Amino acid sequence: PDNSVISSTISPGSYSSKDCFNSSQCGRLPVYDTNAVLLEAMSRILSAVAWPYANGPRHIGHVAGFGVPSDVFSRYMRMAGHDVLMVSGTDEHGTPILVAADGAGVSARELADQNNRLIVEDLVALGLSYDLFTRTTAGNHYRVVQDMFATVRDNGYMIEQVTRAAISPSTGRTLPDRYIEGTCPICGAEGARGDQCDNCGNQMDPTELINPHSRINGETPKFVESTHYFLDLPALADALSAWLDEREKSGTWRPNVIKFSQNFLEDIRPRAMTRDIDWGIPVPGWEDQPTKRLYVWFDAVIGYLSASIEWARRTGDPEAWRKWWNDPEALSYYFMGKDNIVFHSQIWPAEMLGYNGQGAKGGAPGDLGVLNLPTEVVSSEFLTMEGKKFSSSHGIVIYVRDFLSRYQADALRYFISAAGPETSDSDFTWAEFVRRTNGELVAGWGNLVNRTASMIAKKFGEIPSPGELEDIDRALLDAVEAGFETVGNLIRHHRQKAALSEAMRLVGEANKYVTDTEPFKLKAPEQQQRLATVLWTLAQAVTDLNLMLSPFLPHAANDIDRVMGGAGEIAPMPYIEDVEELDPQVLPADFEGRDGYPIITGDYTNVPTWERHPITVGTPIAKPTPVFVKLDESIVEEELARYADAHPDDVTGA
Ligand code: MF3
Ligand code: ZN
Repeated sequence: PDNSVISSTISPGSYSSKDCFNSSQCGRLPVYDTNAVLLEAMSRILSAVAWPYANGPRHIGHVAGFGVPSDVFSRYMRMAGHDVLMVSGTDEHGTPILVAADGAGVSARELADQNNRLIVEDLVALGLSYDLFTRTTAGNHYRVVQDMFATVRDNGYMIEQVTRAAISPSTGRTLPDRYIEGTCPICGAEGARGDQCDNCGNQMDPTELINPHSRINGETPKFVESTHYFLDLPALADALSAWLDEREKSGTWRPNVIKFSQNFLEDIRPRAMTRDIDWGIPVPGWEDQPTKRLYVWFDAVIGYLSASIEWARRTGDPEAWRKWWNDPEALSYYFMGKDNIVFHSQIWPAEMLGYNGQGAKGGAPGDLGVLNLPTEVVSSEFLTMEGKKFSSSHGIVIYVRDFLSRYQADALRYFISAAGPETSDSDFTWAEFVRRTNGELVAGWGNLVNRTASMIAKKFGEIPSPGELEDIDRALLDAVEAGFETVGNLIRHHRQKAALSEAMRLVGEANKYVTDTEPFKLKAPEQQQRLATVLWTLAQAVTDLNLMLSPFLPHAANDIDRVMGGAGEIAPMPYIEDVEELDPQVLPADFEGRDGYPIITGDYTNVPTWERHPITVGTPIAKPTPVFVKLDESIVEEELARYADAHPDDVTGA
C-alpha cells in the first residue's frame, strides 16, 4: 500500500540503491523494501525495549540507543490504530551489578534498588510511554525464567558440561567474566573481555581468551573445574537459520543487522547459561548450590515475556499477554544498541525455539504455549560525546538526570531523533545541541507556532472563519496533509531521521507560507477576510504538524495543543506507580523485606488518530508563551568546563 513512500520523500540522488551494509563507512542509508511489512488495519505490536543495567544511572548514549527510538515508534503505532504493548525494565543481575555494588560498598540488592528508582524516574521524565517498565528482580520474572529454563531443559536443549571457572588466586573468589581481559581468539584484538569482544562483537568464554588477566589487579586467573548448563545452540541452529532466512526475505531488517546475525551461525557452539556467581536467579534443580545462578543474559531477554505477563496480571486480565506472544499474526520489534544484537537475534530466539520444542531434538511447548520469535531486531549504532566513547568509569558521560535538570526533555528527544546513531555512529556535541535546539526547534517549529497563535490571539482572539481558499492556501494544506502518510511510513520502517526531517521540511513550508502571504501586513479593513483565511490555514497546518511531531516531541505536543485551544492531552504521558510484589514467595533471601517497587505505566488508549483533525472555528486562542527554550551560546563553554573541572588531567573541547 505504500510503495511510493521512499521514492517520493527522498531525492533519488541522495541514496545508493546498492547494498550498503556498513552505513558508517559509506555514509548512506540503506534502501528498504517498503512493501514488506503489511500491517493489518489493527495489528498487535510488541515494542520490546532493551533493559538498562541497574549498575548506575543511565546516560544519554543509552537512551539514544534503546529509549527514544522505541518510544517514537510506539507512539506512532498507537496513533496509527495498532494495539501496542511496550515493555521493559531494569536488568539487575550479573557481574555488572555485583561489581558496582562491591565498589560502592553496598549489597547487590541495595545497589539495584537505588538505581532502579533513579532509572525509572529518568525514563518517565523523558516521556517514554511504557505499558510496563519493571525489573528483573520481580518475583514474576523469577517464576517465568525458571519455568522457561526447566522447559528448555526438559526438551533437551540444556546440556550439562564441565567447564573451567576463573578464580582470583589472591582472593579465592570467582572472577567475573567481564573482569578478565585478554587477546580475542577470533579477531586478535587486545582488550577483549571474558564475556564479549567489543572489536568483533563475538561472545567469549573467559577460557578462550589468549593471555587472560584480571582487569582488577592484572593477575592471571586460575581456572578450576565447574559443571554448568549449556544452551545447545547447534541443535537449534537449523531452526534459527530458517527463521533468519525468512526474516531476511521480509526485507525489513537493517541489512547490517541481518548479516551480522547470520554470521554468528557459522561458528555456533553450546553456550553456558549458568555462572559461578552468587547473585542471580537460582538454577532450577540446583537450589542447593547457591553459588551457581542463571547467566544474566539468559534471564534478561526473558524479561520481554515476563514483563508482558506481569502487565497482564496487573491489569486484571492475566491471559491478555498471549495476544502478543502466541498469536502468530502479532508483530514484535526489539529496540537496542548494536552490542545487544547477538542476544536478540540468536540467544533469545534460541531460547524460544527450545521452549517451543522446535529444534532438532523436538519437544513440546510449556504452559506459556508456542512463543513468537522477533519480527524485527531494530538496532542502533553508538553515540559518542565530543568525539569520545561514553564511559561512566572514565567520567565521559552526560547522565540523563543532569541533562534534564538543565534542558528540556524534548530538546534531547529532538537531538537524538535528528542526529542520533540510527544507522551509523553519531556524535553528541554541545555546539550541535545548541545549534539544533535554537536553529530548528526554536526558530523553526517554535516560531511557527508562536507567530500563528500570536497573530490569531491579537487579531481575532479565536480561530477565525476562513473565506474562499486560494491556491497557495490549498497547496500548503495538501502538502501538510500528505505528511501523515510519508512521515508515518518512514517511522514504521524505522527511518526516524528521515521522518523527522520530512516533518521539519513541512514546518519550513509553513514558515515560507507566512513569508509569502505576509499576514502581518494585512491591516486594512478590506483585507480582514484574507487575513482570517491565512490564519485559519496556518492554524490547521500547525495542528496537523503538531500531531505529526508528537511521537518525537510529546511534551511540546501537549503544550502546543493547549496553545491552539485544546486540552493538552494529545500525547499521553507515562507515570510512576508504587506496586506490590506479586510473587514474594519465589524470591530468595536477598529480598527479605522488599514488598514492592516502582513501575512505569500509563494509559495510552485515548490517542488521536494519525490523520488531519479539522480545527474548530471559534476556538479561543490566547497570547502564547514560547514552548521551546532558546539556549544561550555560552552553555557550550559552560558544559565543556563542567567536564574539564571533573577531569583536570584531560583536555576537552578539541
Ligand atoms: N542490560 C543490557 C545492556 O544494557 C541490555 C539487556 S536487554 C535484555 O546492554 F533484553 F536482554 F534485557
Ligand atoms: Zn574479537
